[in-house]
Amino acid sequence: MCGIVGYIGSQQAAPILLDGLEKLEYRGYDSAGIAVYDSGEVSMAKSKGRLKVLNEITHGGETMPGTLGIGHTRWATHGSPSDINAHPHFNKEKSIVVVHNGIIENYLKLKKKLEKKGYSFMSETDTEVIAHLLDHYYDGNPLRAVTKIMHRMEGSYALGIIFRDHPDELYAVRKDSPLIVGHTDGGSIIASDVPAVLKYTRDVYFIENEEIVRLKKDSMEFFTVDEEPIEKECVRIEWDVNAAEKGGYEHFMLKEMNEQPKAITDTFSPRIKEGKIVIEELNMSAEEIQDIDKIMIVACGSAYHTGVTSKYVFEGLARIPVEVDLASEFRYRKPILNERTLVVVISQSGETADTLAALRESKKQGARVLGIVNVVGSSIAREADNVMYTWAGPEIAVATTKAYSAQLIALYLLAMKFAYERGQMKDEVLQEMLEDLKALPSQVEMLLNNKSKIQRFANRYLAARDVFFIGRGVDYAISLEGSLKLKEISYIHSEAYAAGELKHGTISLIEEGTLVAAVLTQKELYKKMLSNMVEVSTRGAFVLAVTNEGNTEVERAADYVVYIPETNRYFTNSLAIIPLQLFGYYIAVGRGCDVDKPRNLAKSVTVE
Ligand code: G6P
Repeated sequence: MCGIVGYIGSQQAAPILLDGLEKLEYRGYDSAGIAVYDSGEVSMAKSKGRLKVLNEITHGGETMPGTLGIGHTRWATHGSPSDINAHPHFNKEKSIVVVHNGIIENYLKLKKKLEKKGYSFMSETDTEVIAHLLDHYYDGNPLRAVTKIMHRMEGSYALGIIFRDHPDELYAVRKDSPLIVGHTDGGSIIASDVPAVLKYTRDVYFIENEEIVRLKKDSMEFFTVDEEPIEKECVRIEWDVNAAEKGGYEHFMLKEMNEQPKAITDTFSPRIKEGKIVIEELNMSAEEIQDIDKIMIVACGSAYHTGVTSKYVFEGLARIPVEVDLASEFRYRKPILNERTLVVVISQSGETADTLAALRESKKQGARVLGIVNVVGSSIAREADNVMYTWAGPEIAVATTKAYSAQLIALYLLAMKFAYERGQMKDEVLQEMLEDLKALPSQVEMLLNNKSKIQRFANRYLAARDVFFIGRGVDYAISLEGSLKLKEISYIHSEAYAAGELKHGTISLIEEGTLVAAVLTQKELYKKMLSNMVEVSTRGAFVLAVTNEGNTEVERAADYVVYIPETNRYFTNSLAIIPLQLFGYYIAVGRGCDVDKPRNLAKSVTVE
């Protein structure tokens, strides 16, 4: 987590750093800080709390002259969020200053060694070790010092480093945490992610693991950890700059929810050609698809929930066994993989540490890895054998919406492709499903247009203490996501259950007025779901139901019903999620929560 930026050039650095940090605040927002070199000194401003505090202290950066600087926005791992623990961190003389994204796993060992050599520490962070370690190895050659510490540090890091005695240079290095660099007009810039640099350049270099970059005002050089120079290719970013702006919406989350019809269309349309599903990036022949005997889906958070949905879709359509794992569990359970296993890793950011580790473990065991990724050029996209992009565009709100919806589409396409190539799906079924798929964007739009109804309903439940989401089959998967959306942004306790499981314990929590959100979109499970709804309502629960249009009998068992339009049974999650997202959103707004930046969270979880 955490976001880093750095600038060297002919313009004043501080405003550029603050602007970049604003775009990276989604990565962490416990504290922020910048360091700027000017006239032989490095000055620093850091502050606990949101970036706006730092902005105020420095008058938008104006009070800090200088054209070389680094900045950081933090998601605390080691040491509480405080001014002292905020980055940048420095050596005793303040001649070496560092910002860091990642975790130095052996920092305690390094700290002890440094303490024995007389170094003293001011903060509780692992990052401060880096500043002192650099000091220890620095003999006038910054590149040498950087490579030496790389040999000694374990863990993950993207670093921005200033050496006061080399004011014409900015150093950056990465291992397992993202880092990009680019040229601007009259300068060079580093950042953890693309949105921070888009205002200045569209041509960026993705720094690979254990690569170092030395930036000057008008040049940049790349090195290996052995100080060997390397050539790198520049990548052109095609994103629309406005995509990373709020564009008049109150919150990024609301804007991104409204972008779902486009995200869905952009994800399926390039892959449907003349009534066929064409996924060129998959790079698998029909024989190779037939040869796969197991699919493992691995992901975290909402991406994991799309994996749970797609297990039902894959197994139902393609009749192929699917396992779904939380990435944080996957590699510790000694998964059984071989060359006939297709591992599908799903990630919006493409940087989630556990998912990336699962990918590496799978490759090591000889499995073929397909990444379903939103951020172009991210680590997972680059390391997977094949990558299928979700074309949702930049997603800024911590709670995912449009990337989630795009992931579902990519997974439906994949499952349908597998079903077809494995002889499990007739052409006419494929054509019907494609028609249903193409109808989804306008159906989602229609549901979004109903937002004021959901808002009115949400406003009645602002004081809810516990909410339970229940469903069966794919509706269980949507319950998981609905519950996560609500709890992460509104801080209301919520849980999701496979409806049949409720009576094995959880029903004891249902009392007068407890809110239960029931999702029932699966015809053969209606009756069972209706019974489960009656079971909770007779115990006093208030039941909100999300069901298919025309299914009016649900009104007998629910206090409030939201209808979704007709679609293929495997696609209902794409529609049912919309009212649940809106519900979570309006509850959070009504409770005065910081919707886009919920407490304790970060969008890109780059630590395990
Ligand atoms: C964080 C985000 C979630 C996301 C999860 C996985 O927890 O807040 O919205 O689903 O990470 O992230 P990824 O980038 O791998 O999809």
